[in-house]
Amino acid sequence: DHPIAGQIMGTDPDEMARGAALLVGLGHDVIDVNLACPVKKIKRRSRGGHFLTAPREAAEVLQAVRDAVPPEVPCTVKLRRAWDDSEEMAANFERIFEAAYEIGYGWTTVHCRTVEQKYHGPGRWSFLRDLTARYADRVVFGSGDVWTVNDIFAMLDLTGVQGVSVARGCIGNPWIFRQARQMMAGAMPTEPTIAEQRQVLLEHFDLSCRLWGEQRAGRMMRKFGIKFAARHPQADAVKSAFIRCERLEEWRAVIEAAYRLDEDQLAAADGQR
Ligand SMILES: Cc1cc2nc3c(=O)[nH]c(=O)nc-3n(C[C@H](O)[C@H](O)[C@H](O)COP(=O)(O)O)c2cc1C
Repeated sequence: DHPIAGQIMGTDPDEMARGAALLVGLGHDVIDVNLACPVKKIKRRSRGGHFLTAPREAAEVLQAVRDAVPPEVPCTVKLRRAWDDSEEMAANFERIFEAAYEIGYGWTTVHCRTVEQKYHGPGRWSFLRDLTARYADRVVFGSGDVWTVNDIFAMLDLTGVQGVSVARGCIGNPWIFRQARQMMAGAMPTEPTIAEQRQVLLEHFDLSCRLWGEQRAGRMMRKFGIKFAARHPQADAVKSAFIRCERLEEWRAVIEAAYRLDEDQLAAADGQR
């Protein structure tokens, strides 16, 4: 059990190269460069998706990272479909996309929104379809509007991407990956049991406490509880209960009331462990 892919984001090629080497040293199997994040520039320095306005600088970062990573460790890049919908920015995307493969990147993951869009409005799956048609020999992963397990397979079918990146669709539903494996094996995807939901909520809370401390974790878990509630048989009532939570004890009380394990459920949970 060790990290799989580590992602870096920054401005300066040398700094990015050092960051990449650090991640390799920590045992990551893949190094991913973030040219997609829409968060505002700091001191007018490009980073993340802002590199889509500066293709030459983007290629310099990609080159520096590739040079710093041993050849047997794949480098990949995450990018948006463009900065905005102008022709100039479409050409910039193309330059960076092509440069990535020329420099030796294994694959790209393309989020089919513009940087300007941030996370608003629909992703443009037709962009991914056109991209994979134009670059049939390139490995491309798709990202954008993958909300359910069915969306994973719909994106594969409709766009021709070789892989799909699940983002907001797994917040509150980490079982989406199990469901995808079930469907790949030809089975129907199953919903998590109450016992599984309880276990994951408590584990999430525990990890969050270790990272952020109880107070902050408590505030964050209210938000995640609301997301997880969608999988509960009484989704609306449980969601409302999480929304009303103001204190950590209230959050725990919702878990105890709504995710209570009777003896049968406990036995089933024991059987799964
Ligand atoms: C809260 C949040 C944090 C994210 N952080 C990252 C990140 O660190 N790196 C990255 O490549 N994408 C990040 N993304 C973008 C997602 O990977 C994905 O491209 C985007 O959400 C579109 O997919 P979706 O519409 O299915 O959510 C983040 C998205 C959200 C909502």
